Amino acid sequence: MKTQTAKSSAVMPVPGEKLQWCKDLISIGDLGPEGVKRMLDLTMLVKTRPAEFRQSLAGKQIVLFFEKPSLRTRLTFEAGMNGLGGTSFFFDQTNSRLGAREKLSDIAHNLERWVDGIVLRTFEHTTVTEMAEHAGIPVINGLSSLEHPCQALADYFTLTEKFDDLKKIRLAYVGDANNVAHSLMLTAACLGSRITVATPNGYKPDAHILSTALEIAAETGASIEVTHDVRAAVKGADAVYTDVWASMGQESEAVNRKKTFAPYQVNEELFAHAAPHAIFMHCLPAHRGDEVTDEVIDSSRSVVFDQAENRMHAQKAVMLVLLGSEIKRLPQRSAHV
Ligand code: CP
Ligand code: NVA
Repeated sequence: MKTQTAKSSAVMPVPGEKLQWCKDLISIGDLGPEGVKRMLDLTMLVKTRPAEFRQSLAGKQIVLFFEKPSLRTRLTFEAGMNGLGGTSFFFDQTNSRLGAREKLSDIAHNLERWVDGIVLRTFEHTTVTEMAEHAGIPVINGLSSLEHPCQALADYFTLTEKFDDLKKIRLAYVGDANNVAHSLMLTAACLGSRITVATPNGYKPDAHILSTALEIAAETGASIEVTHDVRAAVKGADAVYTDVWASMGQESEAVNRKKTFAPYQVNEELFAHAAPHAIFMHCLPAHRGDEVTDEVIDSSRSVVFDQAENRMHAQKAVMLVLLGSEIKRLPQRSAHV
Protein backbone atom coordinates (compact mmCIF):
# COMPACT_ATOMS: atom_id res chain seq x y z
CA MET A 1 0.00 0.00 0.00
CA LYS A 2 1.03 3.57 -0.52
CA THR A 3 2.61 5.20 2.48
CA GLN A 4 3.13 8.62 0.94
CA THR A 5 2.08 10.52 -2.13
CA ALA A 6 3.95 8.95 -5.00
CA LYS A 7 5.61 10.94 -7.72
CA SER A 8 3.83 10.52 -11.03
CA SER A 9 5.79 10.12 -14.22
CA ALA A 10 3.10 12.35 -15.74
CA VAL A 11 3.79 13.70 -19.19
CA MET A 12 2.75 17.29 -18.54
CA PRO A 13 0.70 18.91 -21.27
CA VAL A 14 2.50 21.95 -22.65
CA PRO A 15 0.79 25.31 -23.28
CA GLY A 16 -1.01 25.30 -26.61
CA GLU A 17 -0.95 21.50 -26.83
CA LYS A 18 -4.20 20.24 -28.27
CA LEU A 19 -5.28 17.35 -26.10
CA GLN A 20 -6.81 15.23 -28.83
CA TRP A 21 -5.27 11.76 -29.15
CA CYS A 22 -8.28 9.81 -30.40
CA LYS A 23 -11.71 10.66 -31.78
CA ASP A 24 -13.85 8.34 -29.65
CA LEU A 25 -13.68 6.36 -26.42
CA ILE A 26 -15.62 3.21 -27.18
CA SER A 27 -13.11 0.71 -25.87
CA ILE A 28 -10.01 0.99 -23.69
CA GLY A 29 -8.33 -0.39 -26.81
CA ASP A 30 -8.96 3.01 -28.48
CA LEU A 31 -6.41 4.52 -26.10
CA GLY A 32 -3.78 1.77 -26.06
CA PRO A 33 -0.97 1.64 -23.48
CA GLU A 34 0.34 5.18 -24.10
CA GLY A 35 -3.15 6.69 -24.20
CA VAL A 36 -4.23 5.01 -20.95
CA LYS A 37 -1.11 6.24 -19.15
CA ARG A 38 -1.57 9.78 -20.44
CA MET A 39 -5.26 9.72 -19.47
CA LEU A 40 -4.39 8.70 -15.90
CA ASP A 41 -1.74 11.43 -15.75
CA LEU A 42 -4.26 14.00 -16.93
CA THR A 43 -6.80 12.69 -14.41
CA MET A 44 -4.24 13.38 -11.68
CA LEU A 45 -3.78 16.95 -12.92
CA VAL A 46 -7.52 17.54 -13.18
CA LYS A 47 -8.14 16.13 -9.72
CA THR A 48 -5.37 18.05 -7.98
CA ARG A 49 -5.70 21.34 -9.91
CA PRO A 50 -9.42 21.66 -10.79
CA ALA A 51 -9.30 25.46 -10.92
CA GLU A 52 -6.82 25.30 -13.81
CA PHE A 53 -9.42 23.56 -15.97
CA ARG A 54 -12.56 25.47 -14.96
CA GLN A 55 -12.97 27.14 -18.36
CA SER A 56 -11.22 24.53 -20.49
CA LEU A 57 -14.41 23.47 -22.29
CA ALA A 58 -16.25 26.81 -22.15
CA GLY A 59 -18.71 26.99 -25.02
CA LYS A 60 -18.64 23.19 -25.61
CA GLN A 61 -21.76 21.04 -25.32
CA ILE A 62 -22.31 17.32 -24.90
CA VAL A 63 -25.46 15.24 -25.08
CA LEU A 64 -26.10 12.04 -23.10
CA PHE A 65 -28.47 9.34 -24.41
CA PHE A 66 -29.03 6.58 -21.83
CA GLU A 67 -31.03 3.42 -22.58
CA LYS A 68 -30.39 2.15 -19.02
CA PRO A 69 -30.58 3.77 -15.56
CA SER A 70 -27.57 5.56 -14.08
CA LEU A 71 -26.55 7.50 -11.00
CA ARG A 72 -22.77 7.78 -11.24
CA THR A 73 -22.18 7.94 -14.98
CA ARG A 74 -24.89 10.53 -15.64
CA LEU A 75 -24.03 12.79 -12.72
CA THR A 76 -20.26 12.60 -13.13
CA PHE A 77 -20.50 13.51 -16.81
CA GLU A 78 -22.93 16.34 -16.09
CA ALA A 79 -21.07 17.73 -13.05
CA GLY A 80 -17.74 17.12 -14.78
CA MET A 81 -18.76 19.02 -17.91
CA ASN A 82 -20.08 21.86 -15.79
CA GLY A 83 -16.78 21.93 -13.86
CA LEU A 84 -14.92 22.39 -17.16
CA GLY A 85 -17.12 25.33 -18.21
CA GLY A 86 -19.25 23.37 -20.68
CA THR A 87 -22.90 22.35 -20.87
CA SER A 88 -24.63 18.95 -21.00
CA PHE A 89 -28.06 17.74 -22.08
CA PHE A 90 -29.57 14.44 -20.91
CA PHE A 91 -31.94 12.29 -22.98
CA ASP A 92 -33.72 9.49 -21.13
CA GLN A 93 -33.87 6.59 -23.61
CA THR A 94 -35.01 3.98 -21.06
CA ASN A 95 -38.43 3.74 -22.72
CA SER A 96 -37.28 3.41 -26.32
CA ARG A 97 -33.95 2.31 -27.71
CA LEU A 98 -31.84 4.63 -29.80
CA GLY A 99 -32.57 3.93 -33.43
CA ALA A 100 -36.20 2.89 -32.80
CA ARG A 101 -37.62 6.21 -34.06
CA GLU A 102 -35.07 7.01 -36.76
CA LYS A 103 -31.87 5.56 -38.15
CA LEU A 104 -28.79 5.91 -35.94
CA SER A 105 -26.94 7.49 -38.87
CA ASP A 106 -29.64 10.16 -39.18
CA ILE A 107 -29.42 10.87 -35.42
CA ALA A 108 -25.62 11.12 -35.74
CA HIS A 109 -25.86 13.60 -38.63
CA ASN A 110 -28.26 15.76 -36.61
CA LEU A 111 -26.19 15.72 -33.42
CA GLU A 112 -22.95 16.67 -35.15
CA ARG A 113 -24.60 19.92 -36.30
CA TRP A 114 -25.56 20.97 -32.76
CA VAL A 115 -23.18 19.65 -30.10
CA ASP A 116 -19.52 18.75 -29.59
CA GLY A 117 -19.75 15.24 -28.13
CA ILE A 118 -22.08 12.30 -27.44
CA VAL A 119 -22.16 10.00 -24.40
CA LEU A 120 -24.10 6.76 -24.86
CA ARG A 121 -25.30 4.07 -22.44
CA THR A 122 -26.73 1.27 -24.52
CA PHE A 123 -27.80 -2.36 -24.56
CA GLU A 124 -26.05 -3.19 -27.83
CA HIS A 125 -22.37 -2.36 -28.17
CA THR A 126 -22.99 -1.88 -31.91
CA THR A 127 -25.20 1.14 -31.13
CA VAL A 128 -22.08 2.90 -29.82
CA THR A 129 -19.83 1.80 -32.69
CA GLU A 130 -22.45 2.70 -35.31
CA MET A 131 -22.98 6.16 -33.82
CA ALA A 132 -19.22 6.74 -33.79
CA GLU A 133 -18.94 5.59 -37.40
CA HIS A 134 -21.46 8.17 -38.58
CA ALA A 135 -20.95 11.09 -36.18
CA GLY A 136 -18.24 13.59 -37.00
CA ILE A 137 -17.99 14.40 -33.28
CA PRO A 138 -16.55 12.28 -30.43
CA VAL A 139 -18.60 9.41 -29.03
CA ILE A 140 -17.97 8.17 -25.48
CA ASN A 141 -19.13 4.77 -24.27
CA GLY A 142 -20.86 5.33 -20.93
CA LEU A 143 -21.48 1.54 -20.65
CA SER A 144 -22.50 -0.96 -23.27
CA SER A 145 -22.99 -4.72 -23.12
CA LEU A 146 -19.29 -5.16 -23.96
CA GLU A 147 -17.34 -2.42 -22.17
CA HIS A 148 -17.38 0.31 -19.53
CA PRO A 149 -14.14 2.16 -20.31
CA CYS A 150 -14.81 5.25 -18.14
CA GLN A 151 -15.30 2.98 -15.12
CA ALA A 152 -12.02 1.16 -15.70
CA LEU A 153 -10.06 4.40 -16.10
CA ALA A 154 -11.45 5.66 -12.77
CA ASP A 155 -10.73 2.29 -11.14
CA TYR A 156 -7.11 2.09 -12.26
CA PHE A 157 -6.66 5.74 -11.30
CA THR A 158 -7.94 4.75 -7.83
CA LEU A 159 -5.38 1.95 -7.76
CA THR A 160 -2.60 4.45 -8.54
CA GLU A 161 -3.70 6.36 -5.43
CA LYS A 162 -3.49 3.25 -3.26
CA PHE A 163 -0.39 1.49 -4.61
CA ASP A 164 3.04 2.72 -5.68
CA ASP A 165 3.51 0.52 -8.73
CA LEU A 166 0.68 -0.98 -10.75
CA LYS A 167 3.12 -3.41 -12.38
CA LYS A 168 3.62 -5.06 -9.00
CA ILE A 169 0.02 -5.51 -7.94
CA ARG A 170 -2.62 -8.07 -8.85
CA LEU A 171 -6.34 -7.39 -9.04
CA ALA A 172 -8.71 -10.34 -8.64
CA TYR A 173 -12.01 -9.74 -10.43
CA VAL A 174 -14.66 -12.13 -9.15
CA GLY A 175 -18.07 -12.69 -10.80
CA ASP A 176 -19.59 -12.11 -14.22
CA ALA A 177 -16.99 -11.25 -16.86
CA ASN A 178 -18.93 -8.72 -18.89
CA ASN A 179 -18.61 -4.99 -19.52
CA VAL A 180 -16.75 -3.85 -16.38
CA ALA A 181 -14.46 -6.90 -16.28
CA HIS A 182 -13.64 -6.50 -19.98
CA SER A 183 -12.55 -2.89 -19.59
CA LEU A 184 -10.56 -3.76 -16.45
CA MET A 185 -8.74 -6.53 -18.35
CA LEU A 186 -7.83 -4.18 -21.21
CA THR A 187 -6.71 -1.44 -18.80
CA ALA A 188 -4.58 -3.87 -16.78
CA ALA A 189 -3.04 -5.01 -20.07
CA CYS A 190 -2.28 -1.44 -21.17
CA LEU A 191 -0.66 -0.62 -17.83
CA GLY A 192 1.47 -3.76 -17.62
CA SER A 193 -0.41 -4.80 -14.48
CA ARG A 194 -1.71 -8.20 -13.30
CA ILE A 195 -5.35 -9.28 -13.28
CA THR A 196 -7.03 -12.61 -12.54
CA VAL A 197 -10.66 -13.00 -13.58
CA ALA A 198 -12.60 -15.72 -11.75
CA THR A 199 -16.01 -16.63 -13.15
CA PRO A 200 -18.45 -19.53 -13.03
CA ASN A 201 -18.58 -21.77 -16.05
CA GLY A 202 -20.44 -20.01 -18.86
CA TYR A 203 -19.58 -16.48 -17.70
CA LYS A 204 -16.02 -16.19 -18.99
CA PRO A 205 -14.78 -13.02 -20.71
CA ASP A 206 -15.58 -12.45 -24.36
CA ALA A 207 -13.00 -14.30 -26.48
CA HIS A 208 -12.10 -11.26 -28.61
CA ILE A 209 -11.60 -9.05 -25.52
CA LEU A 210 -9.40 -11.74 -23.97
CA SER A 211 -7.27 -12.13 -27.08
CA THR A 212 -6.91 -8.34 -27.41
CA ALA A 213 -5.88 -8.08 -23.75
CA LEU A 214 -3.33 -10.88 -24.22
CA GLU A 215 -1.91 -9.20 -27.34
CA ILE A 216 -1.47 -5.91 -25.46
CA ALA A 217 -0.05 -7.80 -22.47
CA ALA A 218 2.62 -9.36 -24.70
CA GLU A 219 3.76 -5.81 -25.46
CA THR A 220 3.54 -4.36 -21.92
CA GLY A 221 4.47 -7.34 -19.75
CA ALA A 222 1.02 -7.52 -18.15
CA SER A 223 -0.41 -10.76 -16.82
CA ILE A 224 -4.02 -11.66 -17.71
CA GLU A 225 -5.43 -14.86 -16.20
CA VAL A 226 -8.89 -16.39 -16.37
CA THR A 227 -10.03 -19.17 -14.03
CA HIS A 228 -13.07 -20.76 -12.39
CA ASP A 229 -11.16 -21.18 -9.12
CA VAL A 230 -12.29 -18.22 -7.05
CA ARG A 231 -10.15 -19.01 -3.99
CA ALA A 232 -6.98 -19.35 -6.05
CA ALA A 233 -7.81 -16.06 -7.79
CA VAL A 234 -8.28 -14.14 -4.55
CA LYS A 235 -5.30 -15.74 -2.77
CA GLY A 236 -2.69 -13.03 -2.16
CA ALA A 237 -4.48 -10.48 -4.38
CA ASP A 238 -3.84 -6.79 -3.68
CA ALA A 239 -7.35 -5.78 -4.71
CA VAL A 240 -10.58 -7.78 -4.96
CA TYR A 241 -13.23 -6.43 -7.34
CA THR A 242 -16.77 -7.59 -7.98
CA ASP A 243 -19.84 -6.44 -9.90
CA VAL A 244 -23.52 -7.39 -9.87
CA TRP A 245 -24.44 -10.96 -10.84
CA ALA A 246 -27.32 -9.83 -13.07
CA SER A 247 -26.49 -6.72 -15.08
CA MET A 248 -29.03 -4.16 -16.22
CA GLY A 249 -31.30 -5.89 -18.72
CA GLN A 250 -30.66 -9.35 -17.21
CA GLU A 251 -33.12 -9.00 -14.32
CA SER A 252 -35.17 -12.02 -15.50
CA GLU A 253 -32.07 -14.22 -15.02
CA ALA A 254 -31.43 -12.96 -11.47
CA VAL A 255 -32.89 -15.98 -9.62
CA ASN A 256 -30.91 -18.55 -11.60
CA ARG A 257 -27.75 -16.47 -11.48
CA LYS A 258 -27.94 -16.26 -7.66
CA LYS A 259 -27.42 -20.03 -7.46
CA THR A 260 -24.61 -20.10 -10.01
CA PHE A 261 -22.71 -17.15 -8.57
CA ALA A 262 -23.19 -17.94 -4.83
CA PRO A 263 -19.63 -19.37 -4.42
CA TYR A 264 -18.29 -16.11 -5.89
CA GLN A 265 -19.75 -13.85 -3.18
CA VAL A 266 -17.10 -11.56 -1.72
CA ASN A 267 -17.67 -12.11 2.00
CA GLU A 268 -15.27 -11.95 4.93
CA GLU A 269 -14.28 -15.59 4.48
CA LEU A 270 -13.34 -15.18 0.81
CA PHE A 271 -11.73 -11.76 1.32
CA ALA A 272 -9.52 -13.25 4.07
CA HIS A 273 -7.65 -15.14 1.32
CA ALA A 274 -6.45 -11.84 -0.19
CA ALA A 275 -3.26 -10.08 0.94
CA PRO A 276 -3.55 -8.51 4.42
CA HIS A 277 -3.37 -5.03 2.85
CA ALA A 278 -5.91 -5.84 0.10
CA ILE A 279 -8.60 -3.36 -0.83
CA PHE A 280 -12.16 -4.08 -1.95
CA MET A 281 -13.52 -2.52 -5.15
CA HIS A 282 -16.95 -2.39 -6.81
CA CYS A 283 -18.24 -0.22 -9.66
CA LEU A 284 -21.61 0.20 -7.90
CA PRO A 285 -24.55 -0.10 -7.72
CA ALA A 286 -24.02 -3.02 -5.34
CA HIS A 287 -26.58 -5.73 -4.67
CA ARG A 288 -25.65 -6.15 -1.02
CA GLY A 289 -26.04 -9.70 0.23
CA ASP A 290 -25.50 -11.07 -3.29
CA GLU A 291 -22.07 -10.38 -4.80
CA VAL A 292 -20.78 -8.64 -1.66
CA THR A 293 -21.71 -8.60 2.01
CA ASP A 294 -22.21 -5.46 4.10
CA GLU A 295 -19.20 -6.45 6.24
CA VAL A 296 -16.87 -6.22 3.24
CA ILE A 297 -18.30 -3.25 1.34
CA ASP A 298 -18.67 -1.18 4.53
CA SER A 299 -15.23 -2.12 5.87
CA SER A 300 -12.29 0.26 6.11
CA ARG A 301 -10.67 -1.69 3.25
CA SER A 302 -13.45 -0.80 0.83
CA VAL A 303 -12.59 2.00 -1.64
CA VAL A 304 -15.90 2.03 -3.51
CA PHE A 305 -16.60 5.71 -2.87
CA ASP A 306 -13.08 6.69 -3.94
CA GLN A 307 -13.82 4.88 -7.20
CA ALA A 308 -17.13 6.75 -7.53
CA GLU A 309 -15.43 10.10 -6.87
CA ASN A 310 -12.74 9.34 -9.41
CA ARG A 311 -15.34 8.70 -12.11
CA MET A 312 -15.72 12.47 -12.34
CA HIS A 313 -12.01 13.26 -12.49
CA ALA A 314 -11.34 10.54 -15.06
CA GLN A 315 -14.25 11.62 -17.25
CA LYS A 316 -13.12 15.24 -17.10
CA ALA A 317 -9.81 14.02 -18.52
CA VAL A 318 -11.65 12.03 -21.20
CA MET A 319 -13.73 15.05 -22.22
CA LEU A 320 -10.68 17.35 -22.28
CA VAL A 321 -8.94 14.94 -24.62
CA LEU A 322 -11.85 14.11 -26.91
CA LEU A 323 -13.31 17.58 -27.14
CA GLY A 324 -9.94 18.94 -28.15
CA SER A 325 -9.24 21.33 -25.32
CA GLU A 326 -6.04 23.31 -25.41
CA ILE A 327 -3.97 23.80 -22.29
CA LYS A 328 -3.64 27.56 -22.21
CA ARG A 329 -0.87 27.60 -19.62
CA LEU A 330 1.05 24.97 -17.77
CA PRO A 331 -0.63 24.04 -14.48
CA GLN A 332 1.72 24.65 -11.56
CA ARG A 333 3.28 21.50 -10.25
CA SER A 334 1.62 20.22 -7.09
CA ALA A 335 2.96 17.67 -4.63
CA HIS A 336 1.17 15.03 -6.68
CA VAL A 337 2.80 15.58 -10.06
N1 CP B 1 -20.83 2.40 -12.03
C1 CP B 1 -21.75 2.98 -12.80
O1 CP B 1 -21.62 3.09 -14.02
O2 CP B 1 -22.81 3.47 -12.10
P1 CP B 1 -24.18 3.96 -12.73
O3 CP B 1 -24.85 2.75 -13.33
O4 CP B 1 -24.97 4.55 -11.58
O5 CP B 1 -23.90 4.99 -13.78
N1 NVA C 1 -22.28 -4.93 -15.16
C1 NVA C 1 -23.15 -3.87 -14.66
C2 NVA C 1 -22.36 -2.63 -14.46
C3 NVA C 1 -23.11 -1.47 -13.86
C4 NVA C 1 -22.28 -0.24 -13.72
C5 NVA C 1 -24.28 -3.65 -15.62
O1 NVA C 1 -24.06 -3.70 -16.84
O2 NVA C 1 -25.41 -3.45 -15.18
